[in-house]
Amino acid sequence: MKKLIVANWKMNPTTLKGAKRLFYQIKTGIKKYSHVLQNIKIIVCPPFVFLPSLSQMAKKGKILLGVQNFFFEEKGAFTGEISPSMLKDFRVKYVILGHSERRKYFGETDEIINKKLKKAIEKKFKPILCIGETKKERESKKTFKVLKKEIEKAIFGIKNLKNLILAYEPIWAIGTGNPCKPEQAKEVLIFVKKKLKNIPVLYGGSVNLKVAKDYIDVGFDGLLIGGASLRPKEFVEICKVCAI
Ligand code: PGA
Repeated sequence: MKKLIVANWKMNPTTLKGAKRLFYQIKTGIKKYSHVLQNIKIIVCPPFVFLPSLSQMAKKGKILLGVQNFFFEEKGAFTGEISPSMLKDFRVKYVILGHSERRKYFGETDEIINKKLKKAIEKKFKPILCIGETKKERESKKTFKVLKKEIEKAIFGIKNLKNLILAYEPIWAIGTGNPCKPEQAKEVLIFVKKKLKNIPVLYGGSVNLKVAKDYIDVGFDGLLIGGASLRPKEFVEICKVCAI
């Protein structure tokens, strides 16, 4: 199976010009090393507003597009929301769901995430479901309990999980410069793989070039990268080291 390297740009960059520049830098870097990147899938998840431009730029390249969220209804009176169908014209195949920042800042509950996951599967997206524990939960040895609950609630009532991708993102490791130790992450990987068979599992949380390959070496199927995906040179290098 190809390794998945997913760039979560979050709410960056702040201009279309900046987004195009970043995408172009990643694209040209990837192209230069295409001979070594055959067993890697690269997915960029920009903010929605950049999709019209970036989907044009992605047309002839290796980079696939994803989004960081969508709503679970098709259309109608839902002010400020974006529906899955609206994204199809921009060749968006992936959607990040249940990211801890959405849970924290936008009140996304397990029930909402379950609805979004159902919609994603119905609409033939490949959902990347994020799960992760807080520092407090880890310290009080509740990690596995929390992850089990997040998974069970998210997939409740969903039979067809064949397109599902899971991302283990310990909340305390996100954006902190303090990635989870690969051996610790591996314990979660084993737990998750036992629970959900044949589902790719990514690691995310302060991934940088120094540590990226360690997660692949302990068995992860790829990475979900925030901060380092905004540094095109480093991002391309991460893709390279994970391909070897
Ligand atoms: P980070 O973000 O790599 O900046 O920690 C990862 C994520 O939130 O998906």
